[in-house]
Amino acid sequence: MPLSKRQTLTQYLIEQRRRFPGASGELNALILDVSIACKAIARAVAFGALAESNGLDTSGLAGGAINVQGEQQKPLDVISNEMFMRQTEWSGHLAGMASEEMEQPYQIPADYPRGKYLLVFDPLDGSSNIDVNVSVGSIFSILRAPQAVVESGRAVTEADFLQPGTAQVAAGYALYGPVTMLVLTVGNGVVGFTLDPNLGEFKLTHPNIRVPADTQEFAINTSNSRFWEPPVKRYVDECLAGRTGPRGKDFNMRWIASMVAEAHRILMRGGVFMYPRDTKDAAKPGRLRLLYEANPIGFVMEQAGGRASTGRQPMLGVKPSTLHQRIGLVFGSKNEVERIERYHAEPHPASDFAPLFAERSLFRD
Ligand code: AHG
Ligand code: MN
Ligand code: MN
Repeated sequence: MPLSKRQTLTQYLIEQRRRFPGASGELNALILDVSIACKAIARAVAFGALAESNGLDTSGLAGGAINVQGEQQKPLDVISNEMFMRQTEWSGHLAGMASEEMEQPYQIPADYPRGKYLLVFDPLDGSSNIDVNVSVGSIFSILRAPQAVVESGRAVTEADFLQPGTAQVAAGYALYGPVTMLVLTVGNGVVGFTLDPNLGEFKLTHPNIRVPADTQEFAINTSNSRFWEPPVKRYVDECLAGRTGPRGKDFNMRWIASMVAEAHRILMRGGVFMYPRDTKDAAKPGRLRLLYEANPIGFVMEQAGGRASTGRQPMLGVKPSTLHQRIGLVFGSKNEVERIERYHAEPHPASDFAPLFAERSLFRD
């Protein structure tokens, strides 16, 4: 088979690094290690129910255990988490990491050197889809470790990770669908790589991903509609009203229940995704997590010309308060996200809100 002229991930990263003559190459090395973890996860996921008969040992793993989110961990959640850690901890590029599957930050073992970056990840997003053979993915975000951590070499704490999305150095996701893809931003637009199964290499197939500003497609879990706040209800009602309603056009709806797969669809053809803050559970102001779901996807969206928001403020401006903080998330085509933000900003009858979620409440984003 002729070697294609498409760039590999390594070539792309080397070219990006040339923009910064002083760069050490550590970020590139870290991203390449993350990409290897993603390739390993892609293989593990692809074996499905045959995993054990193909040497993937799931015995003794926490299948059935409840993680820090109060959600059931699948064996593949645990395996994917391990793959991220084992592939990145040794390199000397990380001061620490944090993941959906670990309550506390992970300390780099003492026998490895420590570095200047923090890695935050959702090792397997959409894992409830694993048993039904629907696309899942991994999401990652790279931050700089605070100077004090780098200088002292001290253990990382939760506070070190509580940086706004604007502080991200790089972010992206891998999608394990009919093909495996890696979508990445290092702050210079968004690029997509397709895993060439013959070479085991990510090849640049989507060199300049842009989210169309307008769309006629939305994604939201409508089973939660009775808990939605009025601005969200208004937006969805107007979409559903279609051509004869205030929007004057018909809308289509999709819900995969893998946020990473929805994000990918939106990057490819536009759309708007909402998992808004709602009144379902006062302890959970939103379903998705700020540091390893909303922020990395938000960074990718903004770099692709889309927008990401809490509904009330730009996602990337939110100062995190805890490692596993949940938040209302709206992202996708710019004009739709801005419309949803306008609906939130417009005055609405206070009586429509449950008291805990009133405008000046504890749970305001
Ligand atoms: P995770 O598998 O990492 O816990 O995340 C699942 C998330 C997200 O991917 C998806 O959009 C959402 O949960 C699905 O929510 P519903 O179950 O309400 O559809
Ligand atoms: Mn997730
Ligand atoms: Mn997950």
